[in-house]
Amino acid sequence: MLVAPSLLAADFGNLEREMQWFNRSRADMLHLDVMDGVFVPNISFGFPVLKHVARLCRKPLDVHLMIVDPQKFIPQVAGLNARYMNVHYEAVTHHHRVFQQIREAGMKPAVTLCPSTPVRMLEDILCDVDMVLLMSVNPGFGGQKFIPHTLKKVEALRRLIQETGSQAIIEVDGGVNGQTGRQLAEAGADVLVAGSYVFGAENPEAMIDELKSLT
Ligand code: DX5
Ligand code: ZN
Repeated sequence: MLVAPSLLAADFGNLEREMQWFNRSRADMLHLDVMDGVFVPNISFGFPVLKHVARLCRKPLDVHLMIVDPQKFIPQVAGLNARYMNVHYEAVTHHHRVFQQIREAGMKPAVTLCPSTPVRMLEDILCDVDMVLLMSVNPGFGGQKFIPHTLKKVEALRRLIQETGSQAIIEVDGGVNGQTGRQLAEAGADVLVAGSYVFGAENPEAMIDELKSLT
């Protein structure tokens, strides 16, 4: 299993210390949640903080934009040297064009679905993205409860990926812990995002190791 801890649950007063243990851990990438107070009812952090984190982080960045018009920020996200730029399906009109622009900027395009958006909406764009992020909570806050219906969506997405011949991998975000992580692994998830389960733990590296061992 690939594991992407979410910085949202980190101690922002000690980012350098957080990134020191993170860089030594077995985490595969760092998940960064950007919120604008419009697309979601909360605001997190913006580019001044992201630039600081990008300088400190030695692992690939997975930038999850919970904002309207995410295409406006492709150059800034590319400037962070991000591996994945995750844009919400619900926040974009011209998906195909935006994915191409993300790729041209040197990043891997990823599309995110809110819990209420069916995976069948992806049928005609699945071959244009490298990753699909299924939200297993309503986006905007860390520490929420996992929505069990997500397991059915992971299975449906796995089938759709096979049908369309897409190479996309499946990431899941929200309420991930040892128990829900195991269920997601069985359903066919490739990447688990975990905020509070990792950064809120006494031994965060042990939580990462636990999630990584899921098959
Ligand atoms: C929620 C964010 C998540 C969040 C997950 O809108 O997209 O990445 O950090 O937090 P947990 O793992 O605590 O549910
Ligand atoms: Zn996220």
